[in-house]
Amino acid sequence: MQQWREKKERGERITALTAYDYPTARLLDEAGVDIILVGDSLGMVVLGYEDTTQVTLQEVVHHTRAVVRGTQRALVVADLPIHTYDTPADAVANARQLIGAGAKAVKLEGGASHRAQIEEILDAGIPLMAHIGMLPQQVREEGGYKLKGRTPAEAEILLRDAQAVEAAGAFAVVLEIVAAETARQISAAIKIPTIGIGSGAHCDGEILVTHDLVGLFPWFVPKFVKPEADVAAEMRKAFEAFIKRTRGSAAPPPESQAAPV
Ligand code: KIV
Repeated sequence: MQQWREKKERGERITALTAYDYPTARLLDEAGVDIILVGDSLGMVVLGYEDTTQVTLQEVVHHTRAVVRGTQRALVVADLPIHTYDTPADAVANARQLIGAGAKAVKLEGGASHRAQIEEILDAGIPLMAHIGMLPQQVREEGGYKLKGRTPAEAEILLRDAQAVEAAGAFAVVLEIVAAETARQISAAIKIPTIGIGSGAHCDGEILVTHDLVGLFPWFVPKFVKPEADVAAEMRKAFEAFIKRTRGSAAPPPESQAAPV
């Protein structure tokens, strides 16, 4: 996992996107993304839950297997869902299940408060990506997806969290919805790469939920996302065209008949 620090030293920015299925993983891998995250955002953009707090370990295991089948080159990281790492013993047992599904590393949400869990996972030989700032698994307690690190006191806590996960041995740390200046200071203060999401332009890399990037979850798009495509609109067009052509003809068009084998 030394290579991620070396990328930072060379000033090479790290690209990371989420996947939950085989075709998306394969397309991301073929496009050359560095890291594919089987995030617990799975719960929101694929399973239709309100937030990530209902996602189970078995759901992440199932989707990790599909992603791994589609990936040859990128690093597959799988998320530990809420309450699967409440104790260091749980953390390592559940991280082993994600590695058993084919992930090459795991991610959990938390900084200094989770140092024992992070160390236990790393002692078991499992690479770990940390995640600090806005923690989606805490969204209910927080009352929304709010910007973190706005005041000097908050920035100081986040800096200590980043230093704690670095000292514990994380190979990278996600900074979610952190004030840009705080994200810049953290990125300058630690040697492991920071991977930003909604945290300004000064992180060492960037991660997004793929559905947000390609416009595949049109019902909610975070303000910080600049979509690069409108896949939902393309799908709607194709669905409507199919419905129209099917309803508009008495029989299916000749080309819909399979050729005899
Ligand atoms: O679950 C997820 O997709 C994530 C990223 C947004 C960082 O944690």
